[in-house]
Amino acid sequence: MPKIKIAPSILSADLSKINSEIKEVENHADLIHVDIMDGIFVPPVTVDSSFVKIIKTKVPLDVHLMVHEPSDSYIKGFIDAGAYSITIHEEACKDPEKQINFIRKNKTKTCVSIKPNTSLDKIKKYLDIVDMVLIMTVEPGWAGQKFIQETMPKVKELRKLKPKLDIEVDGGINPYTSRIAFEAGANVFVAGTSIFGKKDRVAAIKEILNSLK
Ligand code: DX5
Ligand code: ZN
Repeated sequence: MPKIKIAPSILSADLSKINSEIKEVENHADLIHVDIMDGIFVPPVTVDSSFVKIIKTKVPLDVHLMVHEPSDSYIKGFIDAGAYSITIHEEACKDPEKQINFIRKNKTKTCVSIKPNTSLDKIKKYLDIVDMVLIMTVEPGWAGQKFIQETMPKVKELRKLKPKLDIEVDGGINPYTSRIAFEAGANVFVAGTSIFGKKDRVAAIKEILNSLK
């Protein structure tokens, strides 16, 4: 199983002081997860690449595009803003391979995601050209939702198919659900509410890590 990574999601942080929020978790985070919502693929609208540009951290930025049909120039905006990895949604793109190839060509880690009701079969053809797969464990769009355990068979099947692939889970992750996802085979854990919703963010991360021992 690949290395365990913790990715605090800034969707639950105070964006008006984003750099000090990130500073609090910086020494204990492997990735900083940045949720981008366009109001089309998902109802809410969040920040854009100009916001990503102002983030200053030594931790790699994991940009999750909940965006309908992102264009090359739109994706490039996030790469230029400092994204380390970019996730696109299978359901959001007519031909996801187009976006995957563009991200790869730009030497940025490439990830494809599926929503809870999307079958793993939809992305099997991309498994050799991506660095990571994100199995959504809630419907994308909002923080603070309940972990959907029915998504775990997809994680299990994917881990069997790809023993070395980074498998990320996102949505409702806390010290209890992270253990469930870990046992299914996930190794990258996104958590918003269960980290930034707490007063002591470092303790919150340690609690998740402890559950994975
Ligand atoms: C949801 C986002 C998540 C969100 C998770 O659509 O993709 O990254 O921040 O928040 P929690 O951890 O609160 O479920
Ligand atoms: Zn996310």
